[in-house]
Amino acid sequence: MNEAVQTSSAFTPRVFSGIQPSGGLTLGNYLGAMKRFVDTQDTGVQSIYCMVDQHAITVWQDPEKLRHATYELCAGYIASGLDPEKSILFNQSQVPEHAQLGWVFNCVARMGWMQRMTQWKDKAGKNSQNASLGLFAYPALMAADILLYHATHVPVGEDQKQHVELTRDIATKFNHDYGVDFFPIPEPVIEGTATRVMSLRDGSKKMSKSDPSDASRINLRDDSDTIAKKIRKAKTDPEGLPSEAKGLEDRPEARNLVNIYAALNEQSVDQVLADVGGKQFSEFKPMLAELAVEKLSPISSEMTRLMADTSQIDAILAKGAAQARDIATPILKETYKIVGMVG
Ligand code: TYM
Repeated sequence: MNEAVQTSSAFTPRVFSGIQPSGGLTLGNYLGAMKRFVDTQDTGVQSIYCMVDQHAITVWQDPEKLRHATYELCAGYIASGLDPEKSILFNQSQVPEHAQLGWVFNCVARMGWMQRMTQWKDKAGKNSQNASLGLFAYPALMAADILLYHATHVPVGEDQKQHVELTRDIATKFNHDYGVDFFPIPEPVIEGTATRVMSLRDGSKKMSKSDPSDASRINLRDDSDTIAKKIRKAKTDPEGLPSEAKGLEDRPEARNLVNIYAALNEQSVDQVLADVGGKQFSEFKPMLAELAVEKLSPISSEMTRLMADTSQIDAILAKGAAQARDIATPILKETYKIVGMVG
């Protein structure tokens, strides 16, 4: 990450990423995103992290639950180790420039680009005529999130790669159409052993907060017993653990559990297998459960503590929004000027 951040752009390196406050946080969000954000914050590169509540309402959200989930997401960021003194942490709707730049990008992006997005196809499904217009335009707003800060690097899980590539297409088309070199072409940063954490019940499906089966995922707010139970019941195959990564090929469930262990313990898959190769899952699962509880339960307790006084979170969000707007306002103003708007 460090190396990529320092070399790949003529623009000042800047990191941006976001998470939707749409339901609880999963182990996938933690390992694929949050933990990696925390690992980046001491690299000296300016980092900006967002709660994307405007993305969340592209599908129905109960208003009270959305508000609660936004606070909880902010608490989750901080409890995971993100320091609002080192990174900018804010909520999307408190920075209206996102929606403003999003509109400009709605006019740059093409319908065909949006129709190709796998997430649109998955989420809208056969009922696309009934999906919200916001769900269709979602990637243009995501491009606005990133480019409003001239961000150069976007740490995400594997499932967001296509959206970051679309952001690159929007930046390229904008620069080309208006004959400028105004927006950077941001890089997706997808690194580590947990960029695609899979369902505990089906190794071919992503672990997701929207999966109807709660047993398919570990939620950051699950208590220790629930975490241990879900891992104990996780699907595996009858073989034992191999001593090299190659032995996990074509064994998606086994690979997933080893990847999770490696990411939680900050080891490579080979290091993990050097220790546990030859063991049966009946031995490995309790080790994984113990590690998961050791790493996740302090986060959950800290979230509970932070949620007890949401005025503290309000203060963090107000400060973050002001810092974000300091960067966003001149970039939006210049965009309007380039486009020919008087505003
Ligand atoms: P969202 O809210 O679905 O997920 C937030 C982050 O968590 C990662 N993630 C996973 N990583 C590994 N394994 C999993 N099973 C898993 N599930 C989720 C996601 O890849 C993501 O990094 N569109 C985005 C939010 C967004 C955004 C942005 C991200 C809006 N604007 C600008 C980056 C930059 C989303 O829905 O993520």
